[in-house]
Amino acid sequence: MRNILVLGAAGQIGSELVPYLRNIYSADSVVATDINNKVPASLKDAGPFVVLDALNGADMLATVKKYNIDTIFNLVAVLSARGEQDPTFAWKVNMESLINALEISRQTKGAVFTPSSIGAFGPTTPKDNTPQDTIMRPSTIYGVSKVAAELLGDYYHAKFGVDARGLRYPGIISYVTLPGGGTTDYAVEIYYKALQEGSYTCNLKAGSFLDMMYMPDALRAAVELMEADPSKLIHRNSFNVSAMSFDPEMIAASIKKELPHFELKYEIDPIKQSIADSWPNSMDDSCARAEWNWKPEYNLDSMTRDMLAKLRLKLDIK
Ligand code: SER
Repeated sequence: MRNILVLGAAGQIGSELVPYLRNIYSADSVVATDINNKVPASLKDAGPFVVLDALNGADMLATVKKYNIDTIFNLVAVLSARGEQDPTFAWKVNMESLINALEISRQTKGAVFTPSSIGAFGPTTPKDNTPQDTIMRPSTIYGVSKVAAELLGDYYHAKFGVDARGLRYPGIISYVTLPGGGTTDYAVEIYYKALQEGSYTCNLKAGSFLDMMYMPDALRAAVELMEADPSKLIHRNSFNVSAMSFDPEMIAASIKKELPHFELKYEIDPIKQSIADSWPNSMDDSCARAEWNWKPEYNLDSMTRDMLAKLRLKLDIK
């Protein structure tokens, strides 16, 4: 990767991936883009920033040419729960941004990173230790768009030589930018509320196990995959990657080790619950481990300690 374009740079992943990439590859070589100018100053001031609607292919192509881009990280997405409120909008946003990135990379002979998700699996997928290659019949429009994106990535690689690669991310937990409209968002919100209010009302029920990952591992995974020796890749789009699997009771118990008075309550959101019930409890990420040496660094307790410490500073809570 020499010159990198990040689409959706102000989102949960982008707002941390941009500084991470700038730190590794140089500030000038990472072009942050988002649909409007309302992005943190850190994204605009520390390197190139362009207002870009990822659904506008002509504008994307002009930006790619101007900055001589060879790699696109497409982080534009409508997440699972939000997608169910407006499926055609979710499909349009999730697919048209990707098609633009792939078509442009076909012209430039470039590379594309696309996050897939645990949401690409569905109710008929084996739930425990979900294999890399298995049944994929998701029941959300988000999942349908992720399966389509995986297939398109492999298609553009096989047919046109685009270096398309992707990860099936679990729920990502971070303290910089909140996710929006996902089923796994509770695992971020719980840390804020634990510090601010001492209790949290969870919208998924006890026993809802899902794969999760702390943001530092998610960022490192993306770069390690994109830097991996292509001759070692049997899979491309997309790799199961996981760091931990827990349910609300387990994350609450982890928080209680740091904040003994923390209290967990429940008020179930039926839409989010049915989405969570359709996703794996835990994924088998052995192909990622074998093909490009994937290995997570954070587990539930080390993530909890770091999240609470970082959020105390951010929220100015003693
Ligand atoms: N975090 C996403 C969601 O909950 C899953 O990829 O929608």
